Amino acid sequence: MDKIYNISVIGAGHVGLVTAACLAHLGHKVCCMDNNPSKIDLLSKGKIPIYEPGLEEMVLQSMAEDRLFFTGSMEEAVNHGEVIFIAVGTPPRENGEADLSYVENVAREIASLMESYKLIVEKSTVPVETGEKVKNTIKLYVRKNVPFDVASNPEFLREGSAIHDFMNPDRIVIGIDSEKAKRILMDIYKSLNAPIVVTDIKSAELIKHASNSFLAMKISFINAISRICEKVGADVEKVAEGMGLDKRIGREFLNAGIGFGGSCFPKDIDAFIHISESLGYDFRLLKEVKRINDEQRKLVIQKIKDVLWIIKGKKIAIWGVAFKPDTDDIRGAPAIDIIDQLITEGAKVCIYDPQAMENLKTVFDDSRIDYVQDKYQAIHDADCLLIVTEWEEFRNVDFNLMKKKMRFPFIVDGRNIYSSYNLQEKEFIYYGFGKPLPSGVKSQMRK
Ligand code: UDX
Ligand code: UDX
Repeated sequence: MDKIYNISVIGAGHVGLVTAACLAHLGHKVCCMDNNPSKIDLLSKGKIPIYEPGLEEMVLQSMAEDRLFFTGSMEEAVNHGEVIFIAVGTPPRENGEADLSYVENVAREIASLMESYKLIVEKSTVPVETGEKVKNTIKLYVRKNVPFDVASNPEFLREGSAIHDFMNPDRIVIGIDSEKAKRILMDIYKSLNAPIVVTDIKSAELIKHASNSFLAMKISFINAISRICEKVGADVEKVAEGMGLDKRIGREFLNAGIGFGGSCFPKDIDAFIHISESLGYDFRLLKEVKRINDEQRKLVIQKIKDVLWIIKGKKIAIWGVAFKPDTDDIRGAPAIDIIDQLITEGAKVCIYDPQAMENLKTVFDDSRIDYVQDKYQAIHDADCLLIVTEWEEFRNVDFNLMKKKMRFPFIVDGRNIYSSYNLQEKEFIYYGFGKPLPSGVKSQMRK
């Protein structure tokens, strides 16, 4: 029988909650703590404040079997957990630097409350050398001489498939500087069948920033290629297919379109650029990754103008606003910048998203935006349909009905989901990203 640990997870956001639920599912006794009382209130009643497939069932099952509970009390969390995962937010400051004040605060509180050995594990994405700072802070504030270790165990959870990613990881990274910490973390993950990379804490921290930056770089690379494809009439999807079959490259994260968003890639790139700079290295490659990504969002507007000329007064329907499918998360979503540009230019915007509209309303509570409950209702009398998020329900659609509903049958497909259909044959004007333009359309953009 595998050893069962008493574990506490501090922070019940996307990362903390999924981590807590999955650790409980593995059999550990988990306390999940958050300093937001209304969140704890909801969670204690078995209500999940975010949309993540499979999470609710998992939380309810572990709560029912007494392996998972929620609390707002740091004292209770510190008493409960021999192992304490820190999963609080590390939001960006204005200059891109990661704001580590929540992490520092949690480290101080743990230090002042702990009475016996604790293994404190960084789960949140943090800049290299944070582990050392956490360690120093705990040493400063710890009462008596309670022993402790600090470790880094970065998460690689994609929203929308976070449970699957936790249970079937490509690798588990363990950054430690003590044998005891190594043994405990190896024990905790024993039942998962994955390669384990054991290294020092700084290397583990770097693995996280380097991995996310590399993935973002792949996306910006293919988006740069898509611009060239558009100039010469080549097809970026075929280019990606041809490149991706080379095992050294791989096909994943080579989907061109309006670019990456989310609460991780944009923030992690900024933080990595910043920490590199403060260490004396100018990470210009990453600055370019970011610039290419920003440009893709502007390109959407150019594509609309290429056909409609003037945006003012036009009705633009938007399908999907979440930063990716299967989540209600709009943090860093390309949709936010795009909608902002559209309403600034005077468009009437009508939005449909299966999960993320309530969150978007907290950003845009604007009379020029209509929120509707059905995708076909959104395109009624629209001059253009813009696809921003590739939700499954947008893939199989009734094009005849769409043509009837729209004032003008024009689609800008930010995720290339209809690129295999011959939409020109169905009398649509169809713009993908990095795709040959419909014959007969003279683009201003090709100059
Ligand atoms: C966050 C980071 O953004 C990410 O970089 C990191 O890898 C993991 O943590 P996420 O879980 O999506 O990701 O963040 P967020 O939704 O902001 O959740 C953080 C939670 O911590 C919130 O519920 C917040 O209430 C809680 N929190 C924050 C505390 O409990 N204590 C604090 O001091 C600060
Ligand atoms: C990411 C990491 O993948 C994950 O390991 C963890 O570190 C948290 O951050 P997440 O942000 O949830 O996960 O989503 P991901 O699937 O990585 O997509 C990020 C963004 O890139 C999305 O906006 C997505 O639409 C975009 N993307 C992805 C592309 O534009 N093209 C692609 O080929 C792949």
